[in-house]
Amino acid sequence: MTMDIQTFDTTPFPDQKPGTSGLRKAVSVFQKPHYLENFIQSIFDILEGLQGQTLVVGGDGRYYNRQAIQIILKMAAANGVARIKVGQDGILSTPAVSAIIRKYQALGGIVLSASHNPGGPKGDFGVKYNISNGGPAPEKVTEAIYARSKVIDKYYILNAPDVDLGTLGESKLGEMVVEVIDSVQDYQELMESLFDFDRIHQFLTSGNFRLCIDSLHAVTGPYAHALFEQRLGAPAGSVQNSIPLEDFGGGHPDPNLVYAHDLVEVLYGENAPDFGAASDGDGDRNMILGRKFFVTPSDSLAILAANAKLVPGYQDGLAGVARSMPTSQAVDLVAKRLGIDCYETPTGWKFFGNLLDAGKATLCGEESFGTGSNHIREKDGLWAVLFWLNILAVKQQSVEEIVREHWQAYGRNYYSRHDYEEVDAGKAKALIDNVRSQMPNLPGKQFGKYEVEYSDDFSYTDPVDGSISENQGIRIGFTDGSRIVFRLSGTGTQGATLRIYLESYEPDTAKQNLDPQEALGNLIAIADEIAQIRTFTGREQPTVIT
Ligand code: G6P
Ligand code: ZN
Repeated sequence: MTMDIQTFDTTPFPDQKPGTSGLRKAVSVFQKPHYLENFIQSIFDILEGLQGQTLVVGGDGRYYNRQAIQIILKMAAANGVARIKVGQDGILSTPAVSAIIRKYQALGGIVLSASHNPGGPKGDFGVKYNISNGGPAPEKVTEAIYARSKVIDKYYILNAPDVDLGTLGESKLGEMVVEVIDSVQDYQELMESLFDFDRIHQFLTSGNFRLCIDSLHAVTGPYAHALFEQRLGAPAGSVQNSIPLEDFGGGHPDPNLVYAHDLVEVLYGENAPDFGAASDGDGDRNMILGRKFFVTPSDSLAILAANAKLVPGYQDGLAGVARSMPTSQAVDLVAKRLGIDCYETPTGWKFFGNLLDAGKATLCGEESFGTGSNHIREKDGLWAVLFWLNILAVKQQSVEEIVREHWQAYGRNYYSRHDYEEVDAGKAKALIDNVRSQMPNLPGKQFGKYEVEYSDDFSYTDPVDGSISENQGIRIGFTDGSRIVFRLSGTGTQGATLRIYLESYEPDTAKQNLDPQEALGNLIAIADEIAQIRTFTGREQPTVIT
């Protein structure tokens, strides 16, 4: 068969710098002529040995997923890729892509998602390249892609009809094999290898435990349906909002107390079930709820670490744990007691990759509703849900009891994040610059009963490859262990998002029952005093509090 490869002349777009999690832009930006093609060709151009290799492609089903996949398939064929595994109907969750890259030793994969950002024609779209370990490309790769995108002048695409993504099986696109795979199967097999499915099945069918999983009309719908209802025996309807929609039903597919309001209503309502969980657009985040009880992601990580030996996949214990810098120090306390290392990385899952590859960490987590382990190289929403269910099935306690016992044993790290979304980028930068300029004078300074112990701009030296990442967020630590962190989000697409992370430590069990906003009241006021948030942003209050 002769291949009809078309070569297009193109000119660079100046804005194709991948952020915390790949290139994320409004759909309309990706729809500009040549925009997606330029970025995809930039990826292909910097991949050594691409020809003859296997790639994995799939996305969270948001608007433009299908069109983008057709373009990527045809470009891959024109660039000499031998085989592409693509999820049926273009659907693959981010953790599933990671699992499939690893299982089939693919060169890498392309994930189409803007994660928790809204979808639809007016929403966001995103492209992320993952490397052969299944994880997001490290900075040296994303920088190479960006550098390439600034000088690109040609891309290659096969002139061919669209591939039928609805039917499982192999077909040819030029000389490349396109393999449409079941979106769930490989992922489910991996989960069955880690968790005690029989025990969880027994637990879910015992009649003593009810759960509600909310897929927020995003990618985890088919996965959650197959796992919890079909395989683990939860009654039909236990998974809600389970059909992936291109616009996520108009919602914001972010599993937190604000955006997962349907689920929150169920878990805080009359006759509430025992357990609730939600995932984000692409399935890598999770929120865990008990009956009328919210588990802070930082606590969730600590609790999974403390109870890991109850789960078959982790029964031999953990090599170490890792958390991002703004994540609370609850897991540090667990690591200390277990006698294992605890690593503090910048925000962004990619920073865990080396630690996992080197066997230095087994569990990782972030305050931003991400938890995961060495089973793949992405965070994994449904994995976290299964981990919790496995623990619950063994301990036969409620979520709230498990969390409260954990606080009794380790102390409670009160924690909250205040987000100011879509702030004018210049004003947000001015706010950060102002805080940075105060840094040298803060140590020793007294704010009521709080004394500043240290203040720095977080810098990370990767213990595996020695790479250095600077300016990762301003930390202000107090002598009693409390912390305030100021950071600008690297995932937003509109203006800037200011994040303020607040943490205090309470070892006294009698004082562990406060509302975090109340417990952190003094720190919230200090953060405002230092950063002059209202003056700089013009905002009276945060957009989202988690
Ligand atoms: C994504 C990344 C996470 C990160 C989160 C928030 O989910 O995968 O690693 O913690 O975004 O990032 P941001 O830069 O917006 O705070
Ligand atoms: Zn996500």
